[in-house]
Amino acid sequence: VSVAPQTGTVEPFRFEDGALVVLDQRALPKAERWIRCETVEQVADCIRTLAVRGAPAIGLAAAYGMALADDRAAAAELLRSTRPTAVNLAWAIERCREAAEPLGTARRLHREQQEADRRLAELGAELFADGTRALTHCNAGALATGGFGTAGGVLRAAWERGRLASVWVDETRPLLQGARLTAWELRQAGIPHRVVADSAAGSLMAHGLVDRVVVGADRIAANGDVANKVGTYPLAVLAHRHGVPFYVAAPVSTIDPATPDGNAIPIEERDPAELDAAGEAFNPAFDVTPAELVTAIVTEAGVLEPPFEESIARAVAPA
Ligand code: MRU
Repeated sequence: VSVAPQTGTVEPFRFEDGALVVLDQRALPKAERWIRCETVEQVADCIRTLAVRGAPAIGLAAAYGMALADDRAAAAELLRSTRPTAVNLAWAIERCREAAEPLGTARRLHREQQEADRRLAELGAELFADGTRALTHCNAGALATGGFGTAGGVLRAAWERGRLASVWVDETRPLLQGARLTAWELRQAGIPHRVVADSAAGSLMAHGLVDRVVVGADRIAANGDVANKVGTYPLAVLAHRHGVPFYVAAPVSTIDPATPDGNAIPIEERDPAELDAAGEAFNPAFDVTPAELVTAIVTEAGVLEPPFEESIARAVAPA
């Protein structure tokens, strides 16, 4: 795999020789396959089919896609239609739509993502006491951001500081981003971890085996409600029941001040075939965790605490 020199984290894509070259996350960890995208249609396809996934990573891939397009208005519409929940996608497309140099803009957004990840990881690691046993859901590591990772970055930074003992990795049904991707990243980083069935979280907490839950986000509403991979909300309910702090780690670009609360977040429904061969399944890919169950939101602009309306408004206010 391709590894960033400064951080040692894997890179989900790179822009070279006029193309976006995407690491196909559907094939991981069994095979390392790269897809060369020379058109915006190919980039859109990679996003829709989850070859590249994770909120910040699909935003950056779309930004590079804009740089490949002749007709930017049509490209913006196509890219926007690929996935509805992660607001980073629309956010990044908007920044490239009118840019004088779309490729330069995409590269700048990529650098800023890397800086934001690093900063929020450091702030998040401060919230860990020595010997923390963390639990995470889905994949919010380098593969999901193009940087150091959000929730995954917090875990790495806590490990670097000697504060993290081990990680419980939810397998994350139905597409197993936890078992396939997060476990793979943690193995490469040498961080002790065990994959568990999603439904094991309750008994782990009941036995006092989880000190912190840390997850990423696809969209955070103005009131602090958080959309993330389906299965996050039940984890927050369990964490509340067992008195386990529940942290959300995300860059400010994942906060959508125009979305007042979780009810206004569009939840992506994916192909029933991902769940069941008969095609009879209902397959929402995300759920919403109400703000009242969130202990804190870790961003590069600081650790946001309740009341979230106020802390979020301050974080998104122009400097
Ligand atoms: O469907 P996915 O794999 O794109 O879903 C990803 C998640 O839910 C992540 O937790 C979220 O995007 C945060 S990634 C830093």
